[in-house]
Amino acid sequence: MIGRLNHVAIAVPDLAAAMALYRDTLGAEISAPQDLPEHGVTTVFVQLPNTRIELLAPLGIASPIAMFLERNPGGGMHHLCYEVADIVCSRTALVKAGARVLGDGAPKTGAHGKPVLFLHPKDFHGTLIELEQV
Ligand code: CO
Repeated sequence: MIGRLNHVAIAVPDLAAAMALYRDTLGAEISAPQDLPEHGVTTVFVQLPNTRIELLAPLGIASPIAMFLERNPGGGMHHLCYEVADIVCSRTALVKAGARVLGDGAPKTGAHGKPVLFLHPKDFHGTLIELEQV
């Protein structure tokens, strides 16, 4: 069901500092910041030859990553994103297998303008999983 690793997301307390670290110190190509109000985050993508790194900073007071940053003030790995061909098909199979989908279970539009949903970390060895339909 799952295909390529689309990105690894890292929650960061200071987006400008994280961008400078990846761009200037690590010498990577990075995108411009994009606000995703529906998800309560601002994202930057670091383009690597084989995948991407998503830098995530909180946007607004009800950001879902605010609590994560409270527990991990210096930032930390937040989720992995796997590509799937059909997100509704994948969701149906995963729910049938006992996995929990976060929120109301309906796919939302993600950072790449494609449908995404998140799976409960307790069902995946402590790792929050994002599925993105490509
Ligand atoms: Co993501």
